[in-house]
Amino acid sequence: MASDAAETIDIVRAYDDRSWGNDGPTRGVEDVVETGAVLTFPQLAFALAEPERRFLDPRWADAKAKNVSVRWPSGELRGAVGDPADLEALRAMIVRFAEMSEALALRLFPHYRGHLRRGNTSFRPTDVVARVRSWRQDDTRLHVDAFPSNPMRGTRLLRVFSNVNPSGVPRRWRVGEPFEAHARRYLGAIGRPLPGSAWLMHKAGITKRRRTEYDHVMLQLHDRAKSDLGFQRSGPQARVDFAPGTTWVVYSDQVLHAAMGGQHMLEQTFLLDVECLRRPETSPLRTLERLLHRSLR
Ligand SMILES: [Fe+2]
Repeated sequence: MASDAAETIDIVRAYDDRSWGNDGPTRGVEDVVETGAVLTFPQLAFALAEPERRFLDPRWADAKAKNVSVRWPSGELRGAVGDPADLEALRAMIVRFAEMSEALALRLFPHYRGHLRRGNTSFRPTDVVARVRSWRQDDTRLHVDAFPSNPMRGTRLLRVFSNVNPSGVPRRWRVGEPFEAHARRYLGAIGRPLPGSAWLMHKAGITKRRRTEYDHVMLQLHDRAKSDLGFQRSGPQARVDFAPGTTWVVYSDQVLHAAMGGQHMLEQTFLLDVECLRRPETSPLRTLERLLHRSLR
């Protein structure tokens, strides 16, 4: 019994906010999100206007694209198919989510004001389970976010999600162990990158910028967790269901997560330099540097 209790993961913190803007009650919770909690707002729905409800259909997503997105700073719509008037209305809906997410994030985390950078805004009208992928791309396996072609070099990934499913379907996640425990699980088996490999991958256009050793370690953690079926099955974890009308906020480079089901979600990514955290020592970069006794930049 005692060992079962030790494996219980309890990282979800619920707040009763009903407003995205500055009139909502919750503010100054940087410490909560930075220590690896999932902040959930079960009563904070992203409301769609009646004409926008037609967008809750996979037919708007280009079959080749993973999801529909708006890129910043250009504000350009990607991955969608339709006539220009419809696409402009779809874009406007996604832009409104970006703006409301930003207002929410700056209220929750006023310490980040002036430092939070807007990343992509995504709309996912397709079912999680409909996407067939390799094990490395299989997001139904527990993982921390790390991208082979897009080295983050320590920059944080803060994400705001909202379930806009019209028919009662929850977004179903699993969440896992704290980042430091997760890093300790695999760190002993992770070697250093091959000399010159980061330079070569950048030169060859495989990566958008040069990978640092931080990126190397994060990708290794991502891959080792996803390929470890024993860990996936019996590692410390908990199920979390996000009902329609729920918004949640998480550092996805820190919190072990897996998307098990659901359809119709909006997602805003924010980027933040480690130095701009309230407690930089909680970051994956500083945690890995402490465990490895060297700089990873
Ligand atoms: Fe992820």
